[in-house]
Amino acid sequence: MLSATLLAACSANDGRQAIPTDKAVEAQVEQVLKGMTLEEKAGQLVQLNISVLEDDTREAIDPAKLDKIIGQYKVGSILNVMHDAAHSREQTAAMVRQIQEKSMEAIGIPCIYGLDMIHGATYLTDGSFYPQEVNLAATFNREYPRLMGRAMAYETRAAQVPWVFSPVMDLGRDPRWPRIWESFGEDPYLQAEMAREETLAIQGSDPNHIGLENAAVSIKHFMGYGVPVSGKDRTPAIIAENDLREKFFAPFLECFRAGALTAMVNSASINGIPTHANAILLSGWVKEQLGWDGMLVTDWADIDNLFQRDHVAADKHEAVAMGINAGIDMIMDPYDPECCNVIVDLVKDGRISQARLDDAVRRVLRLKVRLGLFENPLWDKEYPEFASEQFGRESYAAAVESEVLLKNEDNILPLKGTERILVTGPNANSLRALNGGWSYRWQGAADEFAPQYNTILEALEARFPGKVRFEPGVSYLPGDDWQAEDASGLGKAVAAARGADVIVACVGENSYCETPGNMDDLNLSANQKALVKGLAATGKPIVLILNEGRPRLIGDIEPLAKAVVDVMLPSNYGGDALAALLAGDENFSGKLPFTYSKHINALHTYDYKVSEHRETMEGSYNYDAVMDVQWPFGFGLSYTSFAYSKLKVSQADFKAGDVLKVSVDVTNTGTRAGKEAVLLYSSDLVASLIPDVKRLRGFEKVSIEPGQTVTVNFELPASRLAFVGADGRWRLEKGDFRLSCGGQSAMLSCTETHIWDTPNI
Ligand code: BGC
Repeated sequence: MLSATLLAACSANDGRQAIPTDKAVEAQVEQVLKGMTLEEKAGQLVQLNISVLEDDTREAIDPAKLDKIIGQYKVGSILNVMHDAAHSREQTAAMVRQIQEKSMEAIGIPCIYGLDMIHGATYLTDGSFYPQEVNLAATFNREYPRLMGRAMAYETRAAQVPWVFSPVMDLGRDPRWPRIWESFGEDPYLQAEMAREETLAIQGSDPNHIGLENAAVSIKHFMGYGVPVSGKDRTPAIIAENDLREKFFAPFLECFRAGALTAMVNSASINGIPTHANAILLSGWVKEQLGWDGMLVTDWADIDNLFQRDHVAADKHEAVAMGINAGIDMIMDPYDPECCNVIVDLVKDGRISQARLDDAVRRVLRLKVRLGLFENPLWDKEYPEFASEQFGRESYAAAVESEVLLKNEDNILPLKGTERILVTGPNANSLRALNGGWSYRWQGAADEFAPQYNTILEALEARFPGKVRFEPGVSYLPGDDWQAEDASGLGKAVAAARGADVIVACVGENSYCETPGNMDDLNLSANQKALVKGLAATGKPIVLILNEGRPRLIGDIEPLAKAVVDVMLPSNYGGDALAALLAGDENFSGKLPFTYSKHINALHTYDYKVSEHRETMEGSYNYDAVMDVQWPFGFGLSYTSFAYSKLKVSQADFKAGDVLKVSVDVTNTGTRAGKEAVLLYSSDLVASLIPDVKRLRGFEKVSIEPGQTVTVNFELPASRLAFVGADGRWRLEKGDFRLSCGGQSAMLSCTETHIWDTPNI
């Protein structure tokens, strides 16, 4: 249980409502609600997987099943793709049309269809894909989540679907967890900024009236999902209460306040409480404290997990009552329409009150009204920008800005163009690996669906005609086991290296998603390490390309490479982007949005406590101490160089209500134009809880010509320097702070302690 102190500290309302109430919306909701039977209400609270409607071909809807699910059970929402794979915009629209027409005829209430559009319209075969969120975070450029969100919403609407299960904002603070690539890195501020931009781009600026080029978001997974103690997906997390409020809630809060209409709940548990049964978080923090009138949907079968997996409920009835009474509004069941009857039973025997039932139904109806589904259950509109070249250009530009140059000894990059290049490694010729999961299929299947895009190999062959030879050395085996490899070509690759001038070794991971992505060793696979070691023995210079969803440990092979680039999951244009970067046609500007760890027993985040560091044995709190990591958060090289000077802060003393104006000069001291992500950090030098060594408080991406100096300005509300104390309250404490940016630093003092009496600031 969350402690009584924390609960007490957080019971107040925030004083500002997350989504403004719209009288016309509310009137329409009431109008619909008052005509509904108990069975119809129960149906609105259930969401089923499309497989319950598929016929034997799995490519079409079975009319008898439609009669049963929509006609008889009156189910209010359907999700996912037929036959577990993406379909074209036309096929998807035709399928939704069939369901929607039935829903209007049988219930008179529109069905809401939802899809996992994760990095663009990633469940449409002809949709536009952008780099995964972890890549967008590496751009440190707010423009990219905006562009991706807009295209995602536009193309999803074009397929008659009004709801996306995006953006993902689980903090990627444990590299063992298989889903860190789905969100924007390890830092709460970066995550919150990028997720808010994506939310606004998907929904538009008026959450009460979502237009036909926008969609509803489902921000997920609320919350604390990304730090399971075991490192394995959907397993328990233990999170300090102050961290939960200060860090894990931060991106959700930002998105709720930006008008996010729905949120999906964390499948696992925090401090022993399955999140789906956590009334304090679901009803308390979100609905009461934020005055949020949106809709909470479960994740996949997570009500069943309350009794089948977590054993906090004895049976389905108890689990459904527990979830709905904790604050769940819609149950993603996903295969069992009988859930509707369970809800009916529970209302009849009083285990779910009429008031809670009506509140949940209102929230579902409000979403449908806000989306305009009653007026336009289907819409007749042209979408001329669907899969446009412009969306492709944006995806390419995002990929260029997201690939991170981590090492470039002797300026081996850019390549001169005269070298004989050996391209090798299991990731060299794989679109599946470039895209990762949630790409055409849940586990990723880009080679099957999108052969028109270039793999790394194809892009290098196009950029360096006649210069490229390919020997994979190690290959991924087709099939379900993404970790299965064939290393029988290793000898051939090493032999080919002898005839090359430079080796581009593309290693990393094959695609995966969720629980199947669990693994037991964060080290890069033994086969791939053996390949790199074998190649290095030839004495030929290695450019190591990391194409992976999480930072796999490479401490022993990194010294064997002259250059290292982490492309993460840059999607369909990622190969072209890499070829252009390696050739020097484009310049690198990505920076790591996570800490790249070096040792298995030292998996840290950049905002560690100095006492975690081995050099603090003398007892001094050394804010300049550096963890022994492979590469720190925020690290990334360029083909040019930047010098920072003149860090200025508008005032030396401050109080909680002040807004500090901070500026710093950044000069391009090299010979090429470049973009620089300017990162502003703070350190709290003395605090009542052990302070983090530093925290990111601002970032801006700027383009700078050679020889040019740009002044970068930040407006930093002093409240952003506050932390959540032991009593669960936000506090800014009197004392010294240090701001730092690009090696520059400035000291300043808070002159008065301030403790907020609202749960959020
Ligand atoms: C995932 C969610 C996803 C849902 C619906 C779950 O297994 O955890 O992220 O939105 O399935 O497909």
